[in-house]
Amino acid sequence: MSTRREARILVVEDNDTLRGGVSLALREAWSEVEEAASGEEALARIHDPGREPFDVVLTDVRLPGADGLAVLRAARERDPRTSVLLMTAYGSIETAVEAMRFGAFDFVQKPIDLEQIELRVTRALEHRRLIAEVTELREEQAARRAVDEIVGDSPALRAAVDLALRVAPTRSTVLVTGETGTGKELIASLIHRSSPRRDGPLVKVNCAALPETLLESELFGHERGAFTGADRQRIGRFEQASGGTLFLDEVGDMSPATQAKLLRVLQDQEFQRLGGTRVLRTDARLVSATNQDLAVRMREGSFREDLFFRLNVIRVHLPPLRERPDDLLALAHHFLHRFAHEVGRPVRGFTDEALARIRSHAWPGNVRELHNTLERGVLMAEGPRIDAADLALPSRVEGELREGWRPDLPPGGMSLREVERELVLEALRRSGFLQKDAAKLLGVSRRKLNYMIRRMGITHSSWRRNRPPGQATPAATRAAPTRVPGAP
Ligand SMILES: Nc1ncnc2c1ncn2[C@@H]1O[C@H](COP(=O)(O)OP(=O)(O)OP(=O)(O)O)[C@@H](O)[C@H]1O
Ligand SMILES: [Mg+2]
Repeated sequence: MSTRREARILVVEDNDTLRGGVSLALREAWSEVEEAASGEEALARIHDPGREPFDVVLTDVRLPGADGLAVLRAARERDPRTSVLLMTAYGSIETAVEAMRFGAFDFVQKPIDLEQIELRVTRALEHRRLIAEVTELREEQAARRAVDEIVGDSPALRAAVDLALRVAPTRSTVLVTGETGTGKELIASLIHRSSPRRDGPLVKVNCAALPETLLESELFGHERGAFTGADRQRIGRFEQASGGTLFLDEVGDMSPATQAKLLRVLQDQEFQRLGGTRVLRTDARLVSATNQDLAVRMREGSFREDLFFRLNVIRVHLPPLRERPDDLLALAHHFLHRFAHEVGRPVRGFTDEALARIRSHAWPGNVRELHNTLERGVLMAEGPRIDAADLALPSRVEGELREGWRPDLPPGGMSLREVERELVLEALRRSGFLQKDAAKLLGVSRRKLNYMIRRMGITHSSWRRNRPPGQATPAATRAAPTRVPGAP
């Protein structure tokens, strides 16, 4: 027996003698030859997620169960590189011709000549190899294009992009983290576009945008009558994303019940439509994103740890823009040129003040905020350069106020000294009277805080009198504060 070459082949034929003969002949030359006696059996083998896709499928046209066209479609859906050969009897030639239009590679007429079959399979395999090469080249090019859209050269951004490109070809689940507007969705789309699934769908679901039942029906679909208002069946996003990528945005906002269902899909690749009994399978690749600190959510008990470990197989983190000053300026220039070009205005750069403003702003909305600021800046600029005023960034003081924090000034007013004292006390309470931590919260040195505490006459039972405050042992300071002398 000659040494057999590596190839995975499926022979679909309901006539046992013919199927056996063809398979036997092919096994002489190739390593893996499977058989199916009906259309259904063929579909089951093609869809088997535990096995690699077939390189070549050789199928009869007329079959019990599902016909050769259905087999062709299923095989090419599973992997567009699979070559399908049809075996046609007299009278089914027209179907075969139609099949060629649907992407069949070739057809052979019955009665089957075994040598002919071997020759055609050899050719189909050669064709498959060429297609694989071309696909690979195209993927490389697409990846390069996707990378080109990402502006910035900071080591942190490069590291994120490199990691994204490294995991793209795999099926690994990826979690993208970072503050709002840092480019998480951009990374998710880079992963999809650089993956072998790039011709498949990239389906996005924002988990924060929908209430619990709607989100579940969005993800898993529902049967007709599953709940009031479900007047027809709906295919969920997991099914839609088959063969592609499912991007779960704001995954930290999912309810505990939905988290449990998602966990099941990740464990078994199985789910059910709402109100349905049939167990469905999905091969969608999952990329999720969150701007929340999931470690904190887990500690609070509002995010499942087991789900976290499934989602967090590979973590791509995008630091905030204020920690990437080089990216900040590169992106500012990038957006300036892009918008100037789009609206046809002769804006070419920034004044020094504008640049200083861009550098000093904290950019809580990150790249999205920068994008919007420059869109406006380009329109407002009167000369060839954008000025600080054109950017309409909030003044320093306003800009440094924490979002969502408004000091509660009593109607009768309050002295700044009192305000200061209130804040020092609050910081101490929050840090369990550990001065080192309180100083961090207030953005002052430990010495400075220590000085303020003495000046304000604040004492605490956990601070030993014979030690200077701030050097209490951690055990003592962590003890629940019993009394705060001096506190109002
Ligand atoms: N490095 C970058 N180069 C070019 N454009 C970028 C870059 N990073 C982000 N952007 C752009 O900034 C905008 C915000 O990015 P994106 O939507 O990916 O952020 P996000 O992290 O998903 O935000 P959110 O948490 O609010 O959903 C988009 O228009 C995106 O194209
Ligand atoms: Mg996003």
